[in-house]
Amino acid sequence: MSHDIQALRRIHVDDHHHDRDGILRDVLRGLGATPKRLSSKYFYDARGSALFERICELPEYYLTRVELAIMRDHIGAIANALGPDVRLVEYGSGSGLKTRMLLRSLAAPVAYVPVEISRITLAGSVAALGREFPAIEMLPVCADFTQPITLPRATRAPRQTVVYFPGSTLGNFEPDDALRLLREMRNEAGQGGGILSGGVLIGVDLVKERMAMEAAYNDAAGVTAEFTLNLLVRLNHELGADFNLAGFRHRARWHPLAGRIETHLVSGREQDVHLSGRTFHFAAGEPMLVEYSCKYTLDGFARFAARAGLHVAGVWTDPGQQFSVQWLTCGRDEVRAAIPPMPFDTPAPG
Ligand code: AVI
Repeated sequence: MSHDIQALRRIHVDDHHHDRDGILRDVLRGLGATPKRLSSKYFYDARGSALFERICELPEYYLTRVELAIMRDHIGAIANALGPDVRLVEYGSGSGLKTRMLLRSLAAPVAYVPVEISRITLAGSVAALGREFPAIEMLPVCADFTQPITLPRATRAPRQTVVYFPGSTLGNFEPDDALRLLREMRNEAGQGGGILSGGVLIGVDLVKERMAMEAAYNDAAGVTAEFTLNLLVRLNHELGADFNLAGFRHRARWHPLAGRIETHLVSGREQDVHLSGRTFHFAAGEPMLVEYSCKYTLDGFARFAARAGLHVAGVWTDPGQQFSVQWLTCGRDEVRAAIPPMPFDTPAPG
């Protein structure tokens, strides 16, 4: 615990961490829009993060399990592709097994720069990683990585900066925002320190049979429904809204043309919700969009990454081609692995 407190003190807090007023403005805008929508980035309060951990263990939610297996099976090749003396930037919290595996396998990594919105999560992960990897400089930043941020440089000069973005989190963004974020990552990798221009190591979920994708977001135990409904619990607690939880139900469906799972909270009846002196009317059956989870084909993702100036230099998948870990470079030697044709070539965003 004392390590966590020390780590808390060392965290650089960026201006763009979420504050109550920022969330309120954003939520009021979303509730006032037609159709209504709320950002999935607000799912992750303490309870939401704990529910997401449970989702990752569910039998239907293949993403975490398969990504981990890919990392385990190919970590040597992945570390080799990234090279020695890396400054590793991670968008999101990095306490997990995948980050550990990477830090353990990379040759003499210089620094680890996790960018995470939750100060407590960040402190916990940096304290644990700092204990395990005392030779790696820990440079935690508490910030919303979707906002422009200047990240700290390492004391020892790296050969290149690698941005790590696992979990297919890119899929949670609107296509334009995903593109913007990929460009930010490219800029960070290209100019973030190092004599070589670096790259982005990213987890990308792949298009597959509709049933498997929909099951992953509609688990039998109802944990995902609890996770999405927790957004309303959070808005009630933090902003003083009066959402009646019994009045909304979770719905997640695959949209083939958009290439994504779209999750809505559907109003079970006509009702009013109050927030900050304003009234928001919901019709019976009215859906409010709360999350996109985009899925890609390998070719579709390569085209998308190219629009951000990134080239697919390495692709590792599982035998069932459910998920992929991809190494995107800022434009040097393309050494793309042989990719077998995809069985379900549904159009993906981009
Ligand atoms: C974090 N993100 C990649 C998850 C996903 O699969 O879109 C969030 C999630 N939503 C419902 N289940 C998991």
